[in-house]
Amino acid sequence: MKTILITGGAGFIGSHVVRLFVNKYPDTQIVNLDKLTYAGNLENLKDVEQKSNYNFVKGDIVDSNFINDLFKKYQFDSVIHLAAESHVDRSISNPLEFIQTNVVGTFNLLNSAKNYWSDNFNGKLFYHVSTDEVYGSLGAEGFFLETTPYDPQSPYSSSKASSDHFVRAYGNTYGLPFVISNCSNNYGENQFPEKLIPLFINNIRNNKSLPVYGDGLFTRDWLYVVDHAKAIDTVFKNGKIGDTYNIGGFNEWTNIDLIKLLCGIMDEKLGREQGSSEQLITFVKDRPGHDKRYAIDATKIKTELGWEPSLQFAEGLEKTIDWYLNNKDWLDNVTSGEYQNYYQNQYQ
Ligand code: NAD
Ligand code: DAU
Repeated sequence: MKTILITGGAGFIGSHVVRLFVNKYPDTQIVNLDKLTYAGNLENLKDVEQKSNYNFVKGDIVDSNFINDLFKKYQFDSVIHLAAESHVDRSISNPLEFIQTNVVGTFNLLNSAKNYWSDNFNGKLFYHVSTDEVYGSLGAEGFFLETTPYDPQSPYSSSKASSDHFVRAYGNTYGLPFVISNCSNNYGENQFPEKLIPLFINNIRNNKSLPVYGDGLFTRDWLYVVDHAKAIDTVFKNGKIGDTYNIGGFNEWTNIDLIKLLCGIMDEKLGREQGSSEQLITFVKDRPGHDKRYAIDATKIKTELGWEPSLQFAEGLEKTIDWYLNNKDWLDNVTSGEYQNYYQNQYQ
């Protein structure tokens, strides 16, 4: 029986990847390793926790002895590495945490994988899940290709770029079999409400102001999280060792247009007069070093591996809003306690 280590499986994207793999590969043991930071939540995986091929381990990828022991215990065949500090604003106020988890943590996993697999790399795979932010910021034209030079601009994207470089260095130097994918902005169920879409859904529901950074004319390419999980499965199975795949939604929006669309759907769902949520929009001080535009060219994964997004944005956004409105307890739980301090520091 094969055993796959998935790191960060209690987080937003990780929980969708764990669910997909546990259900799709019943003869494979899935080990979900997660530190359960503020962003990790085992409630995200209630529906799979009883499955016989699912295992949860609480632990920190920064602890190298712990990671070594885990490889010894489970003898993983593959790693799908998602654990990370993932929020750009937090990386601006606390960059060291990002270096620890995203750089040192990735290094520890690479080192253990190399040591435990070095007798025979055959059939082994280290899959590193990364972001389009490593490519920097685009002007009005153009797209990120797999060959676009790295130009990270925030502490978050710099830490992810650094981890990508270490993954390639381990492939080049030690022959570690790896793949990397770089994805655009995800949205969907179970995303922590510090990121734009769930934050604004929660604020609209509570009649709180919607803090739009700068002029709101920043552009992101949005992909439904389940489509990202399926892309990860595709790359895991069929990606070429040592290669990189960009993943995106072919779906660019300026923040302000997206927010207006979201406000309209929320008014409808909450039975409020059209236009009332838009009145909550408040332009606030810009994020320092705010990247203007991200846009992924996902042609390679489409033509080489046959993956493409399955959901249109309007449908995905409506599904997402329905989930949050039907899971108010989840939202209320994650926004109690420490979240209030974070919100106060970030927005007041
Ligand atoms: P998230 O913040 O929702 O989840 C991260 C998970 O990692 C949490 O469960 C957390 O508890 C865990 N974790 C954090 N530090 C850890 C540590 N030291 N040891 C073990 N576990 C730890 O993140 P996400 O949005 O699901 O992103 C997952 C991955 O995908 C990240 O690597 C991120 O860079 C990448 N990514 C995210 C997006 C996006 O739009 N969210 C887009 C492209 C790539
Ligand atoms: O592109 C992929 C990246 O997308 C991932 O690697 C990151 O983990 C993920 O957090 C996301 O980064 P962004 O910075 O693009 O996402 P965020 O949701 O924080 O912000 C989206 C846009 O909305 C961005 O232009 C900033 C703006 N924004 C965000 C917040 C939280 C606001 O205007 N107001 C806000 O309160």
